[in-house]
Amino acid sequence: MATTEIQKSNKRNLPIGNVIFWEEKANGILGRTSSANFEITVYDEHTIRVQIGRDETFLPNPYSVVKNPKDVAVEILKIDGNIWIKTSKIHLNVNLDPFHLSFQTPLGQIINEDDPAFAVSWLGTEVSNYKKVQKDEKFIGLGEKTGNLNRFGKAYTNWNTDYFAYGVGDDPLYMSIPFYLGIHNKLAYGIFLDNTHKTIFNFGASTNRFVYYSADDGDLDYYFFHDDHVGKIISAYTELTGKMEMPPLWSLGYQQCRYSYYPDSEVLTLANTFRDKKMPADVIYLDIHHMEKYKVFTFDGEKFPDPKSMIKALKQKGFRVVVIMDPGIKTQKGYAPYDEGLEQDLFVKYPDGEVYEAQVWPGWCAFPDFTKSETRQWWADKMEFYEEAGVDGYWTDMNEPASWGQFTPNLIEFDYEGEHVSHRKARNIYGFQMAKSAQLGSIQQRPEERPFILTRSGFSGIQRYAAAWTGDNVASEEHMMAGIRLVNSLGLSGVSFSGYDVGGFAGEASKSLFARWMSIAAFAPLFRAHSMINSNDAEPWAFGEEVEEISRNYMNLRYKLLPTIYSNFYQSTQTGLPLAKSLAIDHPHDSLVYDSAFQNQYLFCENLLVAPVESTKEITKVFLPDGDWYYLFDGRLHEGNQVVYQDCPISYLPVYVRAGSILAMQSMIPHTSVRHDGVLRLHLFMGERAFSYQHYEDDGIGFGYKNGEYLRRSIGVDPTHKTIRFSASEGKFKSTFSKIKLYFHGASVEEIHWKGHMLPIQLESFAFLEKLTEFDPLPDHSHPYFEMKDVPTVIIDHSADEFTVRFN
Ligand code: GLC
Repeated sequence: MATTEIQKSNKRNLPIGNVIFWEEKANGILGRTSSANFEITVYDEHTIRVQIGRDETFLPNPYSVVKNPKDVAVEILKIDGNIWIKTSKIHLNVNLDPFHLSFQTPLGQIINEDDPAFAVSWLGTEVSNYKKVQKDEKFIGLGEKTGNLNRFGKAYTNWNTDYFAYGVGDDPLYMSIPFYLGIHNKLAYGIFLDNTHKTIFNFGASTNRFVYYSADDGDLDYYFFHDDHVGKIISAYTELTGKMEMPPLWSLGYQQCRYSYYPDSEVLTLANTFRDKKMPADVIYLDIHHMEKYKVFTFDGEKFPDPKSMIKALKQKGFRVVVIMDPGIKTQKGYAPYDEGLEQDLFVKYPDGEVYEAQVWPGWCAFPDFTKSETRQWWADKMEFYEEAGVDGYWTDMNEPASWGQFTPNLIEFDYEGEHVSHRKARNIYGFQMAKSAQLGSIQQRPEERPFILTRSGFSGIQRYAAAWTGDNVASEEHMMAGIRLVNSLGLSGVSFSGYDVGGFAGEASKSLFARWMSIAAFAPLFRAHSMINSNDAEPWAFGEEVEEISRNYMNLRYKLLPTIYSNFYQSTQTGLPLAKSLAIDHPHDSLVYDSAFQNQYLFCENLLVAPVESTKEITKVFLPDGDWYYLFDGRLHEGNQVVYQDCPISYLPVYVRAGSILAMQSMIPHTSVRHDGVLRLHLFMGERAFSYQHYEDDGIGFGYKNGEYLRRSIGVDPTHKTIRFSASEGKFKSTFSKIKLYFHGASVEEIHWKGHMLPIQLESFAFLEKLTEFDPLPDHSHPYFEMKDVPTVIIDHSADEFTVRFN
């Protein structure tokens, strides 16, 4: 590039300019404009990659994308001086003079197009892509971002940041996922900007000319997705960046955390209290006080003199133990991780070779360079320390990386798989690589068991390695609601397994806030309560008997719903679609979905419509989308496509179940290693049209499911022909259920036939929540009790072959 051009690009906007050369290549084209190189590659019929850079070669992010281009039919044509790249789903028009792109449908509708004047431009090293805004265009996704579901009018920065007690509109937070979806004119598309530098997404803040995204440096490397359904676009994004694997079943139970439970006797008391109070729970966390002077790979000799015995005792009570791992390694001679890190050259360094140090909990620390495979392997090996003590899961925290002062100098250097880059390129990927290393360590130490890694920081693709939580939230009503949007937005962006600190990390939850938060989080993918040091007790029994009962009720409901939840986790491993599904996925063009009154609503496990509401409200408006909906607790049917007013006393969260769906449930259990009573309860919520449910089971812990040790079957209900058809079970796993009990909701059933027999119908009273014992109610709250009377039920023997139940 000529010096004058460099000067120009440093002072003023330098657009990409005219195409001066292009040629066809496999699955696309490549070429040069007056100021950059470009390459356009079809990945499959719904995914096209655009790479533009000013260096000789592209330097792509080696971490996020796991897919290569597929061999699909691509047509490349030159018409009227333009190039067309056509797949069955996308027709991409490459304008040559100046270079700008227009993505269209095969029918010629504009899906997305560059602002022709600026298209792709540079200001110094900063590269931007300017896009026209389409009529009423809405923008959703972008991972862990605060604000409204529709991000129009706001701008966001991706720069992983440790942000204690962030405000509900603050940005950036801990994790960067530069993937968003645009929705307009009955069309939808997705864009993933695959660049780990600091990036900015401006969806029309302070400008009405365009929306744009920029990266501080590096290539403009993005993937464009288009399909006829938002869900398919999310699936395409997760085909590209990977999907989560089956988590251990225990991680779907209730998880209790605190900064910090200590000493060991307190941890054991905690465990006993769950069991004594008959509150189901599976996981206890050890936060930073388990360590000696906050040094990773140590236990504090006084607080935890015999961690092995403690963990064994917890196991006997059915608890799994997750420990925190922070990246900072105390710079103390004689402390093995520090000495080894120095010896083996594993730490992040200044350009002159000196080890970079900053302060975190242990004081001055060195930071393992997780962008180097040797470091990841070393850390994974070190985790043997925890495995020996019996630890089950790992919580990778402070991995933005965080340090006091919260301002890391940009000149420090990282390996970045041999590319040797500065902090500017490596920061956003650091936490992701730490989580990867933790997963490696967990599998290496315990090859027979699925890992559970919970991470605070991450980048696109993190779903392959870890579940996520939304960091240091605050005990407030607005934070509770904001957390739901964060989780829903993570779900729009490929991260299906996520949650928030129930009760709020900072500050003190009121009784009603805690109760409501527990009831909502029972319908979150990750169900974990956590609170910070020096705060009041925040276990589900710490807020008085009434809150305890409400909490127990929702915890029990969660455990009873585990067959549904587990089956849906399996679905998510296949489709990449989230467990907590924003209504924008299935109803993207319905403007009520984006209304501030309804934007927090989501579908949990596909069929449960959760309408989160503040604990201060007694009545709320709920938007029921297309279809019919049963109020979960009293079974009353409501028509969809309307707004209803719903009472929401503190004991009842507004939850509806889709007419035309099945909820698979089991008996109450205290934790997931206790067997249920052997009866799979299938609640059939009748609708007009045929519907089905995919049931999935495996051993919940190992990798056998990858070799056929699973059970999968579909259960289809046809209300017209009055049949329930169970497909033959697929896979080698034998169901843990020996009987199936069918509950008919919304259908009067007189006769049921199965395998030539007429079966006795029992009419039962049924309640999803237990009756609350009488307490002095919380001020302004009353306690209805919902019970569905005379629900027709029938019991059949479980059998693995195909069979049909007929009813009329
Ligand atoms: C960070 C984490 C928080 C944890 C604390 C102490 O603030 O976000 O969850 O409890 O560090 O380890």
